[in-house]
Amino acid sequence: MFVVPGQGKKEAIESMPGQFRWSVDRVCEAVEPVVRQGVGAVLLFGQTDRPKDNGGSAAWDDHAPVQEAVRALKRAFPQLTVMTDVCLCAYTSHGHCAPLRPDGSLDNDAACACLAKVALSHAAAGADVVAPSAMMDGQIAAIRAALREEGFDETLLMAYSTKFASACYGPFRDAEGSAPQPAPGAPADRKGYQASYANPRNALLESALDEREGADVLMVKPALFYLDMIREVRARTLLPVAAYNVSGEYAMLIATARAGWGDLGDLVRESTMALTRAGTDLIISYWASRYAEFFGAR
Ligand code: PBG
Ligand code: ZN
Repeated sequence: MFVVPGQGKKEAIESMPGQFRWSVDRVCEAVEPVVRQGVGAVLLFGQTDRPKDNGGSAAWDDHAPVQEAVRALKRAFPQLTVMTDVCLCAYTSHGHCAPLRPDGSLDNDAACACLAKVALSHAAAGADVVAPSAMMDGQIAAIRAALREEGFDETLLMAYSTKFASACYGPFRDAEGSAPQPAPGAPADRKGYQASYANPRNALLESALDEREGADVLMVKPALFYLDMIREVRARTLLPVAAYNVSGEYAMLIATARAGWGDLGDLVRESTMALTRAGTDLIISYWASRYAEFFGAR
């Protein structure tokens, strides 16, 4: 779910019909019915009204919307597992998941230091699980070391480990305002750090490295176009495996149903079962916020 600055906000997200951006004072209202339906966890994405800069420093402001939402949710629903996306792209002036050097190239190691600060800030707010999505080399090791040093032994680390450079993130980038912006010398896309769908062996290596660096949960993302990868990661690890059913996959089914080419409920149930069949342990999906509508007592 998306958390934004301000008060009293429940903004419809145009590219993701049925999803909203919530201000902190309303997140409990958003989550309460979903918790009642039996959904056990929520994954938070944040935005800022502070100036965006090269390093995305607003992301590790202890009083940013995500950090405050974590506090509010843990206070209201102590049994709810609260997860946070750890990245910089919604906070950097150029929309990349890392700071840029003066020549426009990505500074991988500076990003790892920034991501560790973000993860610590989320953990200090009470997040049960921090989930780094930037696809920087060494980010899991950096965050694991920072958590250990600061005594966050109980905070789990869910790695967006096999995350592809996908065309399916468009609606999310629209929702978050996190698309890469044109900057001198900077790459126009995330293909330099997210995995190539033409090189599955390298994508699997990304998960293996994250496991070795200390991840508690591995992830395949997107989900429906990558069922083979879910099965492969599942077969190669003893860790829990998550599948992230992304914004483009959400929007696709809605578009099909709106055109009259399929029943939304049937599409949602069939595609979600495919993830279970492929062997995922956790399903991260926007359908979860509409759980009763699709999976409730019928
Ligand atoms: C941030 C992030 C993205 C998504 C999750 N975390 C966007 C991206 O990598 O560009 C995509 C989620 C979705 O499409 O639902 N790095
Ligand atoms: Zn990012």
